[in-house]
Amino acid sequence: MPKNIIVLTGSPRKGGNSDLLADAFINGAKSAGHNVIKFTAADKDIDGCKACNKCFSKGNACFFSDDFNELAPLVMDSDLLVISTPLYWFSFPSKLKAAIDKFYSFIIGNITLRVKESLLIVCGAAEDEEEFQGIIKSYELITDYMKWTNKGSIIIRGMREKGDVLKTDWIKKIEEMGKNI
Ligand SMILES: Cc1cc2nc3c(=O)[nH]c(=O)nc-3n(C[C@H](O)[C@H](O)[C@H](O)COP(=O)(O)O)c2cc1C
Repeated sequence: MPKNIIVLTGSPRKGGNSDLLADAFINGAKSAGHNVIKFTAADKDIDGCKACNKCFSKGNACFFSDDFNELAPLVMDSDLLVISTPLYWFSFPSKLKAAIDKFYSFIIGNITLRVKESLLIVCGAAEDEEEFQGIIKSYELITDYMKWTNKGSIIIRGMREKGDVLKTDWIKKIEEMGKNI
């Protein structure tokens, strides 16, 4: 059964490690017949949630007009949410976090999402997995709260410079993961 997949990315670096990993996943998933849309949070204008609780009151997810209103229908129509991101200060990069914060609108708007599954791919310079525990724990709490099945929390350590991931076998592994999702 083909799935609708939204791949949400966190890095501003085009061709950076997490961008290449996202593309590898997308290539694999598309080759298996899935429908995939990539959404690069760093290129979008998504402001922080203002906690106005007026979500969906004007039709759009967010009361204020920003690019979250482009993302929200894509998320609502997806079976699987994939996040591919660098680790920033042990957590999500701020533009990606702003998008995730606005998932709050689905709660306030009492929206039943089609999403049933999620996957996190995170890369960082650190060699020690312990340094990734902040983002992993946040992500896992989000998946539990949203009642999504966690298809994996993939940690890719020792990635510093753009293209470091090309020196590893991760691109192949993540492409395979996309094929078998
Ligand atoms: C603002 C900023 C914060 C970062 N914080 C961390 C961190 O807390 N831990 C870590 O291991 N790497 C950290 N890094 C390094 C990136 O996670 C790493 O270079 C990653 O491979 C970048 O992914 P990209 O090529 O997809 O942009 C940080 C980089 C930046 C620019």
